[in-house]
Amino acid sequence: MPSQTIAIANDHGALALKEHMVTYLKSKGHKILDLGVNGPESVDYPDFGYKLAEALKNGKATRGMLLCGSGIGISIAANRFSEIRAALVHDVTGARLSREHNDANVIVFGGRMIGPDLCQECSDAFLSTSFEGGRHQGRVDKLSNPPV
Ligand code: RB5
Repeated sequence: MPSQTIAIANDHGALALKEHMVTYLKSKGHKILDLGVNGPESVDYPDFGYKLAEALKNGKATRGMLLCGSGIGISIAANRFSEIRAALVHDVTGARLSREHNDANVIVFGGRMIGPDLCQECSDAFLSTSFEGGRHQGRVDKLSNPPV
């Protein structure tokens, strides 16, 4: 899988899993842009979802990884940006489909929901799978242009 710059951000609900994944991704040759949080203090997950969304929007990374306790809140935060397609994933099939069908640019995990080994496998699938395009392209385009 080609080396990429991956932005990563989390809240206190997933610090241990984030630290594990930073080490793992670096061992695979990826460059990591770690946007925190890097201590045990209680923080607000929207702040970290927004930081990561801004980093991708500004071209500082090609892919993102977000983690909070459930993965839910930080997904909602990041998906408020039209440039972000953040997929909360619990298994390898979901990770693969998030790329093939949805062209997801951010993968999301719940630190209280998934273990480190499965998280690594999901991450590998996410980073090595291409978007299929074709019939999926128009659908993905519509995600960037919701009716107001
Ligand atoms: C923090 O306790 C928790 O609410 C947060 O990590 C996340 O699960 C929110 O969706």
